[in-house]
Amino acid sequence: MSQIVTPFPLRRARRTRRTEWMREMVREHRLSTRDLIWPIFIRDGENVTEPVDALPGVSRLSIDQAVLAAEEAAALEIPCLALFPYTDPALKTPEAEEAWNPDNLVNRATRAIKAAVPDIGIMLDVALDPYNSDGHDGIVRDGEVLNDETLLALEKQALAQADAGADILGPSDMMDGRIGVIRQALERNDFGQTAIMSYSAKYASAFYGPFRDAVGASGALKGDKKGYQMDPGNGAEALREVAHDLSEGADMVMVKPGMPYLDICQRVKAEFGVPTFAYQVSGEYAMIRAAAQNGWIDGDAAMMESLTAFKRAGCDGILSYFAPRVARILLDEPLDD
Ligand code: PBG
Repeated sequence: MSQIVTPFPLRRARRTRRTEWMREMVREHRLSTRDLIWPIFIRDGENVTEPVDALPGVSRLSIDQAVLAAEEAAALEIPCLALFPYTDPALKTPEAEEAWNPDNLVNRATRAIKAAVPDIGIMLDVALDPYNSDGHDGIVRDGEVLNDETLLALEKQALAQADAGADILGPSDMMDGRIGVIRQALERNDFGQTAIMSYSAKYASAFYGPFRDAVGASGALKGDKKGYQMDPGNGAEALREVAHDLSEGADMVMVKPGMPYLDICQRVKAEFGVPTFAYQVSGEYAMIRAAAQNGWIDGDAAMMESLTAFKRAGCDGILSYFAPRVARILLDEPLDD
């Protein structure tokens, strides 16, 4: 007996893929300008826009130019900027005192931006690497990155940043216990409303290279950061890090880098359900830009695809150097190039 085989597939997934309106109608995840945090590098001077070699399209900005960037962000409906300093090497010391100078670059920039564009959010990194002559996130003595001594420095740094008007503090140093110390200090000093987005699952990654150039820390860095940043082979440990940080008072958590760690983003969101962010770091940005510049990929398409992937993995938002370009595309605004 011959078997009757239906000549037609009963399910046709392609029906909902035929037209753009249908694809949009059934799309599960979409990117919005409201999901974006735009990292900006600040340097001294006036009217300075200094391109960063390894980050095509990204520049170090003097504070007046950063204020213009904040105005641009507001016009593009980007809710928040993350400011990073390019610190004069002469100000770097073994104890990183410049980190808690109320008038350091990021604190001055925060005040200037808040005065000009009050509704834009400002996030500041809590870590010593831009200020430390050893290039490490913590205080180094006898070749050792000291945990508890570093906590005292981070507490001072965090308080100076909150006082400057930062809305979100992003401890990116990976010292143990830092979220608890910073949260307690904020509460004790009338900064109970300052939010903490912890760099909870921050990996010891090769993808930070261009950033370290941008903040001038790569020349200074002695050794590597494997003694405090996470091992790329670990997944369950990221969940423990997030649990610690939440129990110590973090409001939001971050996974970093982004694209190679989408599995971690998904597990964190599924396990804790808290606001979860990913940092699409400098090396990820540089790879996409470099391949596009060589004509090997369509850069804008790869950018949108990579950022949509974060939403699909469960992220609420993304820190990305692409932020202004993505926002222009999402809002149908003209691009500079
Ligand atoms: C510093 C810090 C780093 C980044 C953000 N904060 C670098 C590092 O840990 O060495 C990397 C961001 C990027 O690569 O875009 N604590």
